Amino acid sequence: MTQTRPASDHIDAMLHEDRVVAPSADFQARARMGREDYDRRYRQSLDDPDTFWSEVAGQLHWFAPWQEVLDWQPPHAQWFVGGQTNIAYNALDRNVARGLGAKTAIIWEGEDGEVRRFTYAELLAEVKRAANALTALGVEKGDRVTLYLPLVPEAAIAMLACARIGAVHSVVFGGFSVSALADRLNDAQSKLLITADAGQRRGALVSLKANADEAAALAPSLEKMLVVCRADCEAPMQAGRDVWWHDALAAAGAEHEAAPLDSEHPLFVLYTSGSTGKPKGVQHTTGGYMVGTYLTTQTVFDLQDDDVYWCTADVGWITGHSYSVYGPLLNGATVLMYEGAPNHPDWGRFWQLVARHRVTILYTAPTAIRSFMRQGDDFPARADLSSLRLLGSVGEPINPEAWMWYWRVIGSERCPVVDTWWQTETGSIMLTTLPGAHPSKPGSAGLPMFGVEPAIMTRSGEELGADDGGLLVLKRPWPSMLRTVYGDDERYRKAYWGEIEGVYFAGDGARRDADGYYTVMGRVDDVLNVSGHRLGTMEIESALVAHPSVAEAAVVGRPDDVKGECVVAFVLPQGGYTVDPKELRAHVSKEIGALARPDAIYIADALPKTRSGKIMRRFLRQIAAGRSIEGDTSTLEDPSVLERLAATPSV
Ligand code: PRX
Repeated sequence: MTQTRPASDHIDAMLHEDRVVAPSADFQARARMGREDYDRRYRQSLDDPDTFWSEVAGQLHWFAPWQEVLDWQPPHAQWFVGGQTNIAYNALDRNVARGLGAKTAIIWEGEDGEVRRFTYAELLAEVKRAANALTALGVEKGDRVTLYLPLVPEAAIAMLACARIGAVHSVVFGGFSVSALADRLNDAQSKLLITADAGQRRGALVSLKANADEAAALAPSLEKMLVVCRADCEAPMQAGRDVWWHDALAAAGAEHEAAPLDSEHPLFVLYTSGSTGKPKGVQHTTGGYMVGTYLTTQTVFDLQDDDVYWCTADVGWITGHSYSVYGPLLNGATVLMYEGAPNHPDWGRFWQLVARHRVTILYTAPTAIRSFMRQGDDFPARADLSSLRLLGSVGEPINPEAWMWYWRVIGSERCPVVDTWWQTETGSIMLTTLPGAHPSKPGSAGLPMFGVEPAIMTRSGEELGADDGGLLVLKRPWPSMLRTVYGDDERYRKAYWGEIEGVYFAGDGARRDADGYYTVMGRVDDVLNVSGHRLGTMEIESALVAHPSVAEAAVVGRPDDVKGECVVAFVLPQGGYTVDPKELRAHVSKEIGALARPDAIYIADALPKTRSGKIMRRFLRQIAAGRSIEGDTSTLEDPSVLERLAATPSV
């Protein structure tokens, strides 16, 4: 039997969770999709995918029709082959043309309380100008453009402007460090960087431009920098390279025709952690990603014309791409964006936002829910949350306790909760319940979305039955799947389609119950999930050993009540050096970003290794969690290392 590693202590509770929460009759009556409809369409999506996907894709605009729905040359898929379209055109021009020009597309609230609104017509006008500005800066179809921005409307505008001209965006989360940004700029060979003078976080200004300047010095491919003024427009500008966003847009023409792009034209690259030291550039393309995000946003969030939809994710992550920008705008929804921290000025901020903007659909992460839960029920009680009708969760397993709190305190036992499992690589939601069709089981994501055929397997590819824990795989391609790893197709083949013959290997452990509901338990590889953010243990290890005081390092995850999982580092000092934990934490922040900073550091004199030199992380995880050592230690070169480590206090 394959060993799967639980992501947290909550797994036990999940396995014994048997509550079922059905949607109210009221909700079901209004919902876009009921159980029978789901069953029928899901069946069709597997039995007759051509008809199913043609019908969905046909709801969007294509400049030229596709000749073939799917061309599958494992492990490479092409969807809507020969078709020409443009995702920005579909999100904006198409919605304006169908009468939504005066509808609010984006409501943005800054951390300081400033509010900006864009109708669909206004957003289209901005994106047209931005597209012209990009072209004027020399950006051409196929060029990579990196975005390093706070969560401001310009982030969405820049993404859509790239998509409009066929430039490939690579959004780098604003919390990433100079070297993380430089690595991503270099890997993508970006020509242009779009950044801002600063972003606001917990009342303070975070200077993005200073980081961007340092990274630019390390990125020879970079020609130009476009700078959004978010703070005071005081950032130093390098003549000949840097241009203010507002100046570039003011100088740009108002007219712009969206470029008809091949369905398989690359839309974006998004870097995410894998089990090696180097983050992977996950490559998505135009047509399939568009159809996948369009359909899932509409059905999973039961989108209605008058909804105010809020996905709290930053655009630096896939959730922000698919469900803050592309999916909802393709559907003509009104989207709320909030720039700042959830606890600024206090832990009531999210609930005040919901009340102020009459949010109807809220999509957030378990780590946020657990943080709110810790602050008690008073903060939500002080806000009018009666506008809410649907709640969503994403990014990590949600423990039943947090699920119940979300449902009871935020949703007043009135709003269905959808727990959505998917990944940067899948592009759109793969497993979930549909809110008007299926009862939810707290802690279990649910059923496959259209066209998704999951299975639970052993490492050797043997399919397991109900209630057996194993590896989650997907047995056929789907439209919004990643197409390759940017610049490294071999890694794509190996990491996703080479682990288990003929299927997509997600890297997660899961189990399916007798009703067909999937419970995803967490990663089975060397990837951590800290506050819903993916981090590679090897990435953090390379950052640690880059410090002169560290000779060797091993990083593991430890279950954490709020973050889900936190980073624990075991380090071996370099001869002649003393390890300063404070300095080491600062070093990791500088190398990767604050999110990778170890919560605990063990300064060790040796690491548990097999005779062939492999570090046995399993034992390190047990030590980090304060558990007693379990398992066969006889393969270790020196088993006494474990006792010494267990007796070492962490710092
Ligand atoms: O381990 C799974 C976890 O997050 C991983 C994907 O991370 P990322 O690519 O950053 O995308 C996060 C947002 C889609 C998965 O391999 N994960 C995501 N959603 C869930 C989840 N684990 C359990 N339940 C979920 N709903």
